[in-house]
Amino acid sequence: MENTENKEQLQTSERKKRIFSGIQPTGVFTLGNYLGAVKNWSKLQDEYDCIYSIVNMHAITLRQDPAELRRRTIESYALAMACGIDPDKSILFIQSHVPAHAEANWVLGCTTQFGELSRMTQFKDKSAKHADNINAGLFTYPVLMAGDILLYQADVVPVGIDQKQHLELARNIAERFNGLYGKTFTVPEPYIPSAQGGAKIMSLTDPTKKMSKSDENPRSCVLILDEPNVIIKKFKSAITDSESEVCYREGKDGINNLMTIYSAVTGFSFESIEREFAGKGYGDFKLAVGEAVAEHLAPVRENYARYIADKGYLEECYKRGAERAERIANRTLEKMYKKVGFVAR
Ligand code: TRP
Repeated sequence: MENTENKEQLQTSERKKRIFSGIQPTGVFTLGNYLGAVKNWSKLQDEYDCIYSIVNMHAITLRQDPAELRRRTIESYALAMACGIDPDKSILFIQSHVPAHAEANWVLGCTTQFGELSRMTQFKDKSAKHADNINAGLFTYPVLMAGDILLYQADVVPVGIDQKQHLELARNIAERFNGLYGKTFTVPEPYIPSAQGGAKIMSLTDPTKKMSKSDENPRSCVLILDEPNVIIKKFKSAITDSESEVCYREGKDGINNLMTIYSAVTGFSFESIEREFAGKGYGDFKLAVGEAVAEHLAPVRENYARYIADKGYLEECYKRGAERAERIANRTLEKMYKKVGFVAR
């Protein structure tokens, strides 16, 4: 324990930049999520001081089945580890285990304008989609998210395009708070993943649509825990086009998508893929992509099986993660309370 503490002090003194990101407890995710974002997380651990949270408090802004939320939170934790987040190198914790998130949420909510929150496109989308449950938490969701980031003085936040507006708001809240009360928060920058790291993966059955777990057609989407034979079967039935040439070109959405996937898992460039499959048919190519993906995901699936079977170890990890997160978050919270004029107990 002392060891971790020393390491944390060292990291701050070395001024490694800090990354914070929140992971929705949706359980198993898709190949698209994996190649688009998740795969990047483990690489970032060497360069940055990384803090990852399973954001179960955000999850209840939509109606959840309690038993299922509990199960999926643990699964997401195990999955994050299986995808390469090392709970010793990084801090990996469950959001609700650190009360500072709820506490910061209140203070920051009083520094956020109603008008700002009303402009959030995700709130508009979600309230249209869940018209029977437009709760206050859904409205203030971005404030909770700003707290996540600001409590840890994160320098960088890896976000997808759908979260950019929320990050922009977090920056505004940080700047406003700093302006009103004096420097309290680091103003976070968005982290834009490199072209390949941030590959956008499309549906296998309709390559004009994003690959999505909620797609009606199960063949459209590869889940990262799919068995190898299932993965290969899904790629074999992927939609291509009526030509026969494996090359990246406008109008060849299906082949472009398969090339993007193949390139992301093998590291091969598009040119070398075109050369590899010159004169061969789509059948050979689809099989090769399926096999490469199955091979790429095998360690994730094996690691996940190992972690999820060992609840004792998982518990040890998330308890330790929460303790380490709490130390940092509480320091910021204390500063916030002092700045706004709360009497120290
Ligand atoms: N809202 C993010 C999403 O839906 C999850 C999230 C919560 C998050 N807190 C965060 C992401 C802080 C980055 C930083 O994906």
